[in-house]
Amino acid sequence: MRVEIPLYTERFGSVMIHDVQRILELDSGKREAAEENITTIHKIERDEIEKVEDRLAIVIPVKEEKLKLLEGVLSGIPHDCVVIVVSNSQRSPINRFKMEVDTLARFYRFTRRKMLVIHQKDPALALAFHETGYLDILDGEEKLVRDGKAEAMIIGIMLAKTVSKDFVGFIDADNYIPGAVNEYVKNFAAGFCMAESPYVMVRNSWKYKPKVYDRGLYFKKWGRISETTNKYLNLIISNHTGFETEIIKTGNAGEHAMSIQLADILKYSSGFSAEPFELLYILEEFGGLKPTSHPEVIERGVEIFQIETRNPHFHEDKGEKHLKEMLLMSLSVIYHSPLCDQNLKSTILNELSSQNILDKNLQPPKPPTMSSPKSINIQTFTKRLEEAKTFTVFG
Ligand code: GDP
Ligand code: CO
Repeated sequence: MRVEIPLYTERFGSVMIHDVQRILELDSGKREAAEENITTIHKIERDEIEKVEDRLAIVIPVKEEKLKLLEGVLSGIPHDCVVIVVSNSQRSPINRFKMEVDTLARFYRFTRRKMLVIHQKDPALALAFHETGYLDILDGEEKLVRDGKAEAMIIGIMLAKTVSKDFVGFIDADNYIPGAVNEYVKNFAAGFCMAESPYVMVRNSWKYKPKVYDRGLYFKKWGRISETTNKYLNLIISNHTGFETEIIKTGNAGEHAMSIQLADILKYSSGFSAEPFELLYILEEFGGLKPTSHPEVIERGVEIFQIETRNPHFHEDKGEKHLKEMLLMSLSVIYHSPLCDQNLKSTILNELSSQNILDKNLQPPKPPTMSSPKSINIQTFTKRLEEAKTFTVFG
């Protein structure tokens, strides 16, 4: 792959946020080009990318998605990555989960690739979290894991650890274009190849998020939600540094990846607020604004890459209500962040009321946060899951 080096990097304490990097070639081949030493371009060799793929788990959170889409996503993920499907689809009256497992089984018959699948509401999974003292992920009343995409991400991180992977990436099950999925994984791997710190995150930035209109396709650059989330995340940084910035362009990037070393020490916010919260938490914890409990991270720094995909992002349209909910959750975590001052809080309240998302006199809800997965004893956790045969393994 041939990718721009980050032309600008914003520093916030020990956090390095690299500006968006464009891809010149998705595949840069084996042959040396005549002029190989262009200092602003990084050539990442195929075998370097493949080496990372072997160490990478791809988590696919899924809830009631079309099986055809799920199968397409599976087909786009490089064979050497382990696939971890975390499902929260219904099991009765129609057993959608079983249909997903069957899809994986059929896929396995012909590909023999390694895959794990688990149901978010499996009582034995909740029990394993309970026994290892990780109650944050449980729904108080039901004694099961709570609904939510972030909850699925944590389950995914834990399973990536049980199979001893070094990196974990997240790809939604509702992606229409398998070729795009394939590119997301390559981009993750490229980011890990470029990283200098072991604490690294790679976020995909969409070149286009096309919309279908009567008159055809329109290649839209920004989603409305991302635009607003990015604006406020950038304001958080600007308010602390005193310099306006537009560095964050991936506040809501569902498709992103981390080194396990970083994924392990982060805290997570429930549901759809996870993606912006990860950034906020990194800024809070490693931005040098307060004493840290992770001196080793401060020393090495946290690196955040934002890579612009060549493929447009096509996914299921979940409707206006879903978008409003996403924006409310994103702005809520910013509002409740210790980095957000009174001024910014009132700007956020105005934004929410002007978009008819929240009444002016109401406080945005504070989504539950979940402590670092590192606190979970991985041996006990794995043993419990294996004893209860909680997850199905293919390969
Ligand atoms: P968007 O693409 O960010 O607008 O959100 P989506 O509704 O497409 O959700 C992103 C991904 O997470 C999709 O693959 C969903 O099927 C999946 N998802 C949403 N909620 C849950 C959940 O509670 N549990 C699990 N396991 N997956 C979920
Ligand atoms: Co989607």
